[in-house]
Order: sequence, then C-alpha cells, then structure tokens
Amino acid sequence: MHLKIVPWLKCALVSTMSLRQCLRVCVLLVTVDILCVACRHSKLKPGDVVKKKGDNGKEYVVQTCLGMGVQGEVWTLNGSDRLLKARVAHKNVNRECLFGKIAAQKDSTHFTNCFDHGEGEVWKVEGSELKLEKQIAYTLWERAKGQQISTLMSPPSRAKELNKVFPDLHSVFDRLNELFHMFDTLQQPGTIAPGIGVRQWTQDWQWAHMFASADGFTLIDYGMQTQCCNGSQECAVNSVNYFEPCTSNLLRASSLSASKYLTQFMVDLAFGQSFSQFGQSDWFKRLHNTSLESLVRDLRSGSGPSREMFRDQWDLQSAKVIVEMAKWRRVHEVDAQWPPLFMNSIKVALESVPLSTPITQELLDVDRKKSLSPPIHV
Ligand SMILES: Nc1ncnc2c1ncn2[C@@H]1O[C@H](COP(=O)(O)OP(=O)(O)OP(=O)(O)O)[C@@H](O)[C@H]1O
Ligand SMILES: [Mg+2]
Repeated sequence: MHLKIVPWLKCALVSTMSLRQCLRVCVLLVTVDILCVACRHSKLKPGDVVKKKGDNGKEYVVQTCLGMGVQGEVWTLNGSDRLLKARVAHKNVNRECLFGKIAAQKDSTHFTNCFDHGEGEVWKVEGSELKLEKQIAYTLWERAKGQQISTLMSPPSRAKELNKVFPDLHSVFDRLNELFHMFDTLQQPGTIAPGIGVRQWTQDWQWAHMFASADGFTLIDYGMQTQCCNGSQECAVNSVNYFEPCTSNLLRASSLSASKYLTQFMVDLAFGQSFSQFGQSDWFKRLHNTSLESLVRDLRSGSGPSREMFRDQWDLQSAKVIVEMAKWRRVHEVDAQWPPLFMNSIKVALESVPLSTPITQELLDVDRKKSLSPPIHV
C-alpha cells in the first residue's frame, strides 16, 4: 500500500527493474490502492463475525471488502462463495433482497440471487474473545461472474480489456439488445412464487453495477428500485411484502428511465463520453434535424464523435439508432412507451452492422471505399 507513492521514475532509477516493469508495478499498486480507498472507512473489518439476530446459529465471518457505496459495503466470506452486503444506514433490506429473489427467478443469468437478509450483530475478535460491536442490516448475495465493467471503462491501461468485451460496433449493439431484454424481463410480471405478478425496475443502472462474463451481463445492486403489482394478480408474498398495484404513471416513468439507461449505455460505449455531458451537447441536440447521410459521414470522420475503433463500421442503419435515441430524448414523458421505439432500429442495425473483420480485410475495404467513394443510400 505505501509503495504506491514510489514514483515510477524513482523506481526506475533505484531498482533493477526496467522502465516498463516499473510502470506495471505502479499501475498495479494504484489499482490495489483504488480498491483499498473504496473500503477505507468500512465499518466492518476482516474477521468480524455477523450473527443474524433472532436466528440461532446463522453467522458469517467477513474476509475481504470488495467495495463500498453510499448505502453499504460488500464483503467476501470465509468458507462461502456468497457475498455479504452490510448496510450501515438502515434501509429496507427486505425489499432489496426480495427484488433479487424475484429477478433471479425471472432470469438467473442476468440477475444475482439473494439468499438471506436481516438484522445482524457485528462481533469483533479480541484475543480469544468475541466482543459485541454494533448492529447492522445485511443482505447475502450470489457473486456476479466476470469483470465489473466500470473497472474497464476508466483507466486507459484497461482499454485492451474493454476492447475484448466490445470489439466492434456489432458487439455494442448486441450487448445493448441484451440490456434491453434484461430490463424487459424485469418489467414483466413474475410467473412463479415468490413474486407472481410483480413487475420490477432497477433505478440505478451504472457501469459499476454491471459485470461482463462469457455468459453475458449480470446486473447487481437493487437498492434503488421500483416494484409493483400487475393488474389484479396476486402479488402479496407474505404479510410483510405487499406490493401496490402498478399505475400508468409509474409504468411510464419507469419505461422512460430504462430507455435513458439504454441511451446512456450506447453513448458511453460508442462515443466514449459521459451521457450527462454528451446528451446536453449541441451535436446531440441537433441530431433530429440531421440527415442520415451527413450523420454517417460525421461518424466516420476523424473529427466526429465516434470512438476511433468503430469509425469505419458506421452505416445508415447504425446511425439511425443514434438519431432515434436523440428523438427519444425530446419525447415528453406522456409519450414514453415500452419497448422504446429505437429498439426497432437496433434490430435492423444488428442485421446490417458487420462483425469485425480481420485487420487486413478491413484495410482492403477502406482502400476500396476510398477509391470508389460510394454514395450513401437511404
Ligand atoms: N453480487 C455481487 N457480485 C460481485 N461484486 C459485487 C456484488 N455486489 C456488490 N459487489 C461489489 O461491491 C461494490 C458495492 O456494491 P453495491 O453497489 O451493491 O453497494 P452500494 O452500497 O449499494 O453502493 P451504492 O449505493 O453507492 O450504489 C460493487 O461496486 C461491486 O464491486
Ligand atoms: Mg451500488
């Protein structure tokens, strides 16, 4: 940990390592430090025992803190592959856990299951004794497989890994489609107990809550969420968990925010820019008035907003997705619908955008395009 302050240059001067090796060590230390900073003020410490209140014998020994958010901290456990999320501020852990249970029933690949929740006593090991320290609320989770995408997004050193997950524009559309289906599955009523008839929306989509693995995405953290009961279906799981009926206002607002998350996903990946800034930019605001041809030209040009690696892959269909998303941004809440209209253009784009071709082929294609300068047809 303290080694992180060793500057790269000093390392190179005083050690026998090469510049490149020093750089690698420094990057590693900074990464370790980011992880540690994330847990620096954790309320729990490795070895603490969390005993479930009112449930004789249920206890968890925490091992390594994986991360801390506004609401809580997440720990690996001794002798278990599950994760314990300790909530410092008392929150409705019951609802969060139920969200995971119902969502995992609907789709266990994309949502993590919750196995336990409750109030816990934190016991610290002092010598050979255990001392009661504090009370917390906790939930117990299945660990998401793969890599947290936020860790691939920011430091440039991870760009190679990000490019493996999203190697071409086709993969971006593919994954966007996958995210849509995840939201779509969530918003459908459950079909098996517990949770028959419950429609769900997560209200906190962000890259830190998304993991990518060979199976696809997994979404975590259901602390901010909406759940409601579909029509006249039986939705009360038990006397504690009663769900209010879904109203059209709630459905509309939730559809709108899910559509916003999809657009955010696209903008972050295709343009490498944060949606909050880019969505406000003149370029994005003017899009609905731009012809598809000039947009394709813009997306393909070096001065356009596209990430360089996707530049040659934009065509009319894929550009149309961006236009439709920009139009959606102008939609008044009253007109919001699910599925969002831009999903149609994504389907078309998926059929048209080519999978990445070997580099030599790509170069040949670019040369041919340059020499022929083909017209762009609508
Ligand atoms: N199921 C999981 N599998 C793998 N890692 C997880 C899982 N749940 C949480 N984590 C790790 O713990 C970190 C914090 O988790 P989480 O986002 O659920 O906490 P939080 O307190 O709700 O944060 P915030 O409220 O700020 O979003 C995550 O960023 C992730 O690194
Ligand atoms: Mg979180």
